[in-house]
Amino acid sequence: MTIKDDRKVVLITGCSSGLGFSLAETLLQADRYKLIITTRGRSIEKLRGHFQESTHVMVRELDVNDPTQIYGLINEVCCDWGGIDTLVNNAGVCYRSVIEHMDPDAELEQLRTNYLGPMSVIRAVLPLMRERGRGHIVNISSVSGSVPMPTMGSYSSSKHALEAASEALWYETRPYGIQVTLVQPGFIRSDSYKNVVLSKKAMLSTEVNGSHAEFYRSMAPLVERLMGFSLSSPVGIARKIQRIVDMPRPPFRIGVTADAIVFRFLRGILPNSLFRRLMYLLLPGSTIWGERVPSSVARAG
Ligand SMILES: NC(=O)c1ccc[n+]([C@@H]2O[C@H](COP(=O)([O-])OP(=O)(O)OC[C@H]3O[C@@H](n4cnc5c(N)ncnc54)[C@H](OP(=O)(O)O)[C@@H]3O)[C@@H](O)[C@H]2O)c1
Repeated sequence: MTIKDDRKVVLITGCSSGLGFSLAETLLQADRYKLIITTRGRSIEKLRGHFQESTHVMVRELDVNDPTQIYGLINEVCCDWGGIDTLVNNAGVCYRSVIEHMDPDAELEQLRTNYLGPMSVIRAVLPLMRERGRGHIVNISSVSGSVPMPTMGSYSSSKHALEAASEALWYETRPYGIQVTLVQPGFIRSDSYKNVVLSKKAMLSTEVNGSHAEFYRSMAPLVERLMGFSLSSPVGIARKIQRIVDMPRPPFRIGVTADAIVFRFLRGILPNSLFRRLMYLLLPGSTIWGERVPSSVARAG
């Protein structure tokens, strides 16, 4: 007699910390999914130390920018478990830098991890989902995917790219019974701000009080404070994502923290120019931005 196994097969990227880690743990505790918990090689031992492999848990190395690893893993999962029901593209990096201080290498790493990588994983799972006439792609975006902020232009751009592609994908996959969801967290109460990367010039500017240092001085503590005081924990967001994974008709775009919902609402109802001016006034330190530039030049800019 064969026992029917109706556990959803869920592949999550970037599980070594933060939201990915909490989501893996939340789904594991629910004990009704088959999980592929992944991270890059440098964190795989940490992950293996925490999550035990079993008949319904695989812990695997996956760099979203490594096509060999992507296709190797998808083949393995298809052979062992017959396919993937839900892909959660969670892996991400966040650069802090004004646009002027970003360099091409940093820009590329940002875009590769947050946009090109997820696209590669999506392309690898899509044919299988299409064949089976079902599947769900959950892309973890950010409120930055709707609302860019100073010193986060590159990160925002990568999330805007992810959002645009996801919207196109929604149309392209709908006839095949495949769902697409964009999850937009705002600030999450976690230590993940410690993983924020400064571009070389941003780091130098911070150290020697160079150009734009006042932007970093005001934005970095703001982000850390907002993350520290946020009411949304990674576990809370993970539970919301679990509900999305379980929905028969999941939404296309969903804010999962209060600030993300409020920001997007304001962005939607206010004229663009008013929204930007309001944000400029509200961001702490904006009165001293460009303080070392003659005021006539700053005004002209
Ligand atoms: N935290 C927030 O407040 C917040 C807000 C809005 C949106 N988000 C989004 O939520 C997601 C998770 O963020 P988080 O704050 O939990 O970040 P995090 O704690 O920094 O974790 C990021 C994860 O991504 C992995 N990763 C990085 N580059 C990778 C690559 N090339 N291939 C595979 N994995 C890679 C990291 O693995 P390694 O150990 O290998 O580095 C780590 O497991 C991201 O997409 C982020 O943009 C976060």
